[in-house]
Amino acid sequence: MDKRVTYCTDLEKSVIMSNFERRGWIQVGPEDEWNFYWSFTQNCRNIFSIDNGYRMNDNQIINHFPNHYEISRKDLLVKNIKRYRKELEKEGNPLAEKMEVVLPSGQVATRYVHLDIIPVTYVLPADYNMFVEEYRKSPQSTWIMKPCGKSQGTGIFLINKLSKLKKWSREAKIPFHPQLSSKESYVISRYIDNPLLIGGKKFDLRLYLLVTSFRPLKAYLFKHGFCRFCTVKYDTSVTELDNMYVHLTNVSVQRHGVEYNSLHGGKMSVQNFRLYLEGTRGRSVTEKLFADMHWLIVHSLKAVAPVMANDRHCFECYGYDIIIDNTLKPWLVEVNASPSLQSTTHNDRILKYKLIDNIISVVVPPDGIPDARWNKIPSVEALGDFEVLIDEELMEKEENGCRPTKNSRYR
Ligand SMILES: Nc1ncnc2c1ncn2[C@@H]1O[C@H](COP(=O)(O)OP(=O)(O)O)[C@@H](O)[C@H]1O
Ligand SMILES: [Mg+2]
Repeated sequence: MDKRVTYCTDLEKSVIMSNFERRGWIQVGPEDEWNFYWSFTQNCRNIFSIDNGYRMNDNQIINHFPNHYEISRKDLLVKNIKRYRKELEKEGNPLAEKMEVVLPSGQVATRYVHLDIIPVTYVLPADYNMFVEEYRKSPQSTWIMKPCGKSQGTGIFLINKLSKLKKWSREAKIPFHPQLSSKESYVISRYIDNPLLIGGKKFDLRLYLLVTSFRPLKAYLFKHGFCRFCTVKYDTSVTELDNMYVHLTNVSVQRHGVEYNSLHGGKMSVQNFRLYLEGTRGRSVTEKLFADMHWLIVHSLKAVAPVMANDRHCFECYGYDIIIDNTLKPWLVEVNASPSLQSTTHNDRILKYKLIDNIISVVVPPDGIPDARWNKIPSVEALGDFEVLIDEELMEKEENGCRPTKNSRYR
């Protein structure tokens, strides 16, 4: 085909633009005939809205699924995971096995053995009564309140007393009645108060995950995630409850701290983290932790797969936020559908450039022209620094006698 590939982007960042330019692609506007659109989530939703009447042709692909919010909105992610577990339970699936745990208060609670992947969470105001019931089981616990419609640590606070929540709801003039629109609602999650610390500091992991199809599920994990560190030492004392430099690992929060180091940006690569863990805790527990994280990601995707609009023109790169506690158990904190492409350090810039480069090479067929009809089976070379986390189509082929791959374990 002699026609040049065209691209359109809502985000005029050099890590994106330079990747397209290097491929010799031509920039066009959203109204023109683009082949590849790096869009904002809102613009993608507009394109797919029925009122718009836009019809994509086979040579057009876009970087979001129209209802990405099923996984990226904090309340919907939790709702979908809860529903997924209940459905497995109803089927009598052993994945949904439960066990009783004794809380520090002496009270007994039930938890999923294999799918305890998110901290106990309720949506407020809708689940207020359920929250109070859970709160009373361990009144000494700390909880974290997060607005469903915000990001980058905005509007987040910790509470350790029910009276504080009531006071907040009065002062914020947010009456807890269930009719409140979901935009104004909050999630309240058990605060993981025993995070794994390195150098006395809390951190979480940011992993990048590319999904090219939800049914069958095809997901790829980028090798170069990183840990995001707090700038000050972790401290659980009540006086530090409002100190977000202690509790929130968002770079957008920490970069305003006086201790912020702009050379490393409070970041450590996943590879170095892995080496650190192997050195301090041993190889087998490290391997188990990484396997558990892969498990968590696969099941969070399976939880939303049935509700996702699985349009073949779409792919999406998610930023997973994962906290590891000091028993080396990973917890899913949230999934971002537009992970930051802001580069705070030199290494960051290299990483993000490579991320975009690898995304393009996975989602575009071997002939280099976007095509929604393609079978979405990238070659090993095209994967670059992505590894196949799960490909249900390939798994099915294996069942029919083809060579087994590592993703067989997620059946
Ligand atoms: N349940 C939790 N326990 C401990 N820390 C948490 C918990 N939830 C969130 N955090 C901390 O708060 C940060 C921001 O929370 P997150 O859900 O990612 O919201 P945002 O959209 O603002 O990034 C996380 O990166 C993590 O450091
Ligand atoms: Mg986050």
